[in-house]
Amino acid sequence: MSSCNNKVTKRRVVLLFLASLSVYIYLCINNFDGIKSSAVYKVVDVKLQSLKMEFFPWRGIKQEQTTPLPTTIRVVKIHSNSDKEQLQKYRTRILKKESVPLLTLFTTWNYNLEKDLVHNITVYNWMSLNPFVIPVVFTNDSDVAADCSRKGWKVLPVLITAAEGVPVLKYMYRDVMEKYNTTLYAYSNADILFTDSLPDSLVQIITNTSLDLTQPALMVGKRTNVENVTSDEGSAWYNITKIAKDRGTLFNGWAEDYFITTRSFPWHDIAEVVIGRRAYDNWLVFYSRKMKYSVIDITRTVLAVHQTTKAGNSEGHSHKNKDYNHNLLVKMYKIIRYHLGVIECIEKYTQYEYGIVSIKNRNYQKGCEAG
Ligand SMILES: *[C@@H]1O[C@H](CO)[C@@H](O)[C@H](O)[C@H]1NC(C)=O
Ligand SMILES: *[C@@H]1O[C@H](CO)[C@@H](O)[C@H](O)[C@H]1NC(C)=O
Ligand SMILES: *[C@@H]1O[C@H](CO)[C@@H](O)[C@H](O)[C@H]1NC(C)=O
Ligand SMILES: *[C@@H]1O[C@H](CO)[C@@H](O)[C@H](O)[C@H]1NC(C)=O
Ligand SMILES: *[C@@H]1O[C@H](CO)[C@@H](O)[C@H](O)[C@H]1NC(C)=O
Ligand SMILES: *[C@@H]1O[C@H](CO)[C@@H](O)[C@H](O)[C@H]1NC(C)=O
Repeated sequence: MSSCNNKVTKRRVVLLFLASLSVYIYLCINNFDGIKSSAVYKVVDVKLQSLKMEFFPWRGIKQEQTTPLPTTIRVVKIHSNSDKEQLQKYRTRILKKESVPLLTLFTTWNYNLEKDLVHNITVYNWMSLNPFVIPVVFTNDSDVAADCSRKGWKVLPVLITAAEGVPVLKYMYRDVMEKYNTTLYAYSNADILFTDSLPDSLVQIITNTSLDLTQPALMVGKRTNVENVTSDEGSAWYNITKIAKDRGTLFNGWAEDYFITTRSFPWHDIAEVVIGRRAYDNWLVFYSRKMKYSVIDITRTVLAVHQTTKAGNSEGHSHKNKDYNHNLLVKMYKIIRYHLGVIECIEKYTQYEYGIVSIKNRNYQKGCEAG
């Protein structure tokens, strides 16, 4: 009896605390400039930043995703003609089998009428990155398999699923690493288009920076949303770059659509999260930062165009089992600090300097401390 009463009291205290905290957060968000100058508040300030992000997005929807960040950059500036010669040399080396291809780029889908055009454009686009890239689709759908393989893609079966049939990310990395010998491996959502800025950037990162390829590394970047991409527009790197400039919008750092890793990235230790459901992207970046792997934001040197359709920009949030990853991660780790997995928190980033890609250290970001 008394323990029951105790529980009720405790719950009341917690509720009261939460209520005052929300008021406090609300006041602080709306008064940020006013309290910034005090040294005492600086500490609180950092905590509140974290709380603000932790409380709001993950209770309901990832709200930040639909609010444009206060940024003046609409799309990423890409100097794609930086070192064409080096890229050509690399192509020759790959064709002569003196180098392995740069990247195995894989994704997964089954036939879906609404997405058919998007997928067709992606199939063509990823194939255009050959021989730098080996495009792979994981599917058990024989029509998709036949179509992709006719267009030069590799096809692998989906072996391990969860959340009612959704592929588990880590096993796809395992399978491609067993099958294909490339310097890097990446899962990407199937609606993302790339240009020569991808191989250009990767060649330079591999040959001209101090990144240690024998150590775990993860590269991610923001995407540029473009509505109503047509086959013509998606058919050439030049056109993709043009539509990104003309009508693209750089999305915010909560969405991570592709994950480029080195062979030594310890995928076998990674939680069994599934693709296409929220939470795994930010968690993966947070986890990698926490484990002190090399995490690099390549937004500034790699254009990734998201083909935005009617379903909009937060598809992973409307499916059934939408909380599968979150629930799994909470079971494993209790508290997930997703806000530390946003792109803005990544310490390293790439940048073109006089046409050459270099890896820079970002200035200290408030609220990004990976504990
Ligand atoms: C996609 O490609 C397939 C096979 O090439 C074709 O049959 C289909 O009509 C295309 N779909 C769209 C929407 O363009
Ligand atoms: C896909 O096909 C393979 C056999 O090729 C099978 O082992 C696997 O269980 C299938 N996956 C799903 C999700 O049905
Ligand atoms: C992968 O390529 C490297 C470098 O060319 C080579 O040394 C290695 O033997 C290859 N491994 C496999 C499994 O083909
Ligand atoms: C990049 O690396 C290549 C091969 O290691 C070298 O020949 C070239 O001079 C380097 N370029 C720059 C700009 O450092
Ligand atoms: C994309 O197409 C939809 C209808 O299909 C239209 O409402 C929308 O304005 C278009 N967006 C752009 C940027 O053209
Ligand atoms: C680029 O797009 C335009 C129309 O949007 C098309 O006419 C042209 O052929 C495309 N360029 C290439 C190289 O495919």
